[in-house]
Order: sequence, then C-alpha cells, then structure tokens
Amino acid sequence: MQMGWTKVFEDLAGQVAVITGGARGLGFSMAQALARWETKIALLDVLAEVKDSAEAVQHECAVESVGVAADVTDDGSVAAAFSEVSHTLGSPSILINAAGVTIWEDSIDVSKESWQRVIDINLTGTFLCCQALARACAAAGNGGAIVNVSSMSARVVNLPQHQASYHASKAGVEMLTKALAVEWAPIGIRVNAIAPGYMLSEMTRQFTTANPELAERWRNMIPAGRMGEPADLEALVVFLCSARSSYLMGQSIVIDGAYTAV
Ligand SMILES: NC(=O)c1ccc[n+]([C@@H]2O[C@H](COP(=O)([O-])OP(=O)(O)OC[C@H]3O[C@@H](n4cnc5c(N)ncnc54)[C@H](O)[C@@H]3O)[C@@H](O)[C@H]2O)c1
Repeated sequence: MQMGWTKVFEDLAGQVAVITGGARGLGFSMAQALARWETKIALLDVLAEVKDSAEAVQHECAVESVGVAADVTDDGSVAAAFSEVSHTLGSPSILINAAGVTIWEDSIDVSKESWQRVIDINLTGTFLCCQALARACAAAGNGGAIVNVSSMSARVVNLPQHQASYHASKAGVEMLTKALAVEWAPIGIRVNAIAPGYMLSEMTRQFTTANPELAERWRNMIPAGRMGEPADLEALVVFLCSARSSYLMGQSIVIDGAYTAV
C-alpha cells in the first residue's frame, strides 16, 4: 500500500522540538515547517522578539509554542531553558541547532574575543544544546533527533569575505555531528546536520546591504542562479527530524544550489 504524502511525517505530531536561533531567519522557518506537522515548538534565542516569534508560530499553525530567552553559550541558561520547555510543553525529543553568527574580518586583525565569540556560539553552543537534549531524552526514557545547522563553509572557503572563525566553527560542527551520532546511536538519539549554501537571511543581508555588488557576485557562483530561500531547507529538516529517516545518522547534507559541486 502506498502511503499518502499527507501522512508521511505524522510521527512528528505532538513531539516537542527545541529550535535555537529560532527568533528569525532559518531557525524560524524550520520551526514553522515542523509546526505544520503539528510538532510543539520551543524557540530559544538571545533576541527579545523570540516570544513574538513563538506567538506567530502558534497563531499560524495552531500548535503550542513557547519563546524562551536563552544564550546557547551559557550552560546554566541552556539548562534553565530546557527545564522551562519541559514544564511548558513536555520533554523535548527534537533539537535544531540554528543559533549562529559570523564575522567578516581579515584574520590578521581578528581579536581573540571576536574569534572566541564565533566558536562559542556556533560550536560550543551547539554542543551544550545537544547535551541538554540528550539529557532530556535519557530522563524521559526515549530517543530523539538532532539537526545541527552547519554550512557549506565547513567544506569550502567563502569568497570574497574572510571568515576563518566561521569556517573553523562549522567544520567543528560537522565532526561533532559524527561523534555524537556514533556515541548516541545506542540510546536512540540520531544526530545529523544540514550544510546550507548562501541563503537569504539577516546573516547574509548584513553583508549584501553594505556591499550591494556582493549578492550579484555570489549569484554568479551558484549554478542554480539564485540564493536559497529559507523555505528551501524545510522539507529536508522535517525528513531528518522524522522517524522516516531512522537509519540516517551522522551525516551532513549539503543544500546549496550546487555551489560546492563546481
Ligand atoms: N544565511 C546563510 O546563508 C547561512 C548559510 C549556511 C549556514 N547558515 C547557518 O544557519 C543558522 C541560522 O542563520 P541565519 O542565516 O538564519 O542567521 P540569523 O542571524 O537570521 O539567525 C541567527 C539567530 O541566532 C541567534 N543567536 C545568536 N547568538 C545566539 C546565542 N548566543 N544564543 C541564542 N541565540 C543566538 C540570533 O539572535 C538569530 O536569531 C546559523 O547557524 C548560520 O551559521 C546560514
């Protein structure tokens, strides 16, 4: 019997998903995609607007949602946020690590603080939230699914911008994904990553607004002829969170309009 497309990800309904960096951009878009499959949504972000974003998801998709102010670099903040999520929505079994930052600066000038901030948010923050999700799953006695947001920048060097700390942090996320996938497969927690190319979001807009010729330059390097929209990631993320991908572990899937294929 062929399964109807409308039911294919129905295992997501009623599960609780934590999305870091969920106040806006790719994180928010991925949260909306899960909410359309009736997953309960917890958005974690340093931005105060995270509560409005959660309300917007609740309004649009009629699922329970909560927005929690949290800093992924602070283990106390992460633990408090996961505790609030458990009390409000139930124990989380899905995590999308989308919180991230980048800087464009010549490496010869980058301060230690600036380097450290990118590593702390993109790599250490990802680890701390993976750990919090695993602890929640272990306490609840169930498995889970984690999707880390890496980048094509884990594999290729961006041009013309200089972003060494970003490259290093995302390469770390890719290996962290494999390490945790192997370590946690026996306890039923699947860990995968997605590695987007150039996507339209605040992260890229901060550069294209200051350098209008940049968007055109990037577009010319993308075989698909356009930058990605946040919605381009949605189906892949839903698939990775669902038990439909239950044998898919420790992978990072590039989704970049063939940028890295050239
Ligand atoms: N936009 C792209 O082209 C692109 C490409 C590849 C990968 N990515 C990755 O996608 C993810 C989302 O990026 P985006 O493009 O939506 O950018 P964005 O700037 O719109 O969103 C990032 C979010 O992370 C939050 N954040 C930053 N520091 C935080 C912290 N310490 N604790 C909690 N939240 C924090 C921000 O407040 C923001 O809401 C990032 O990991 C980024 O590296 C983006």
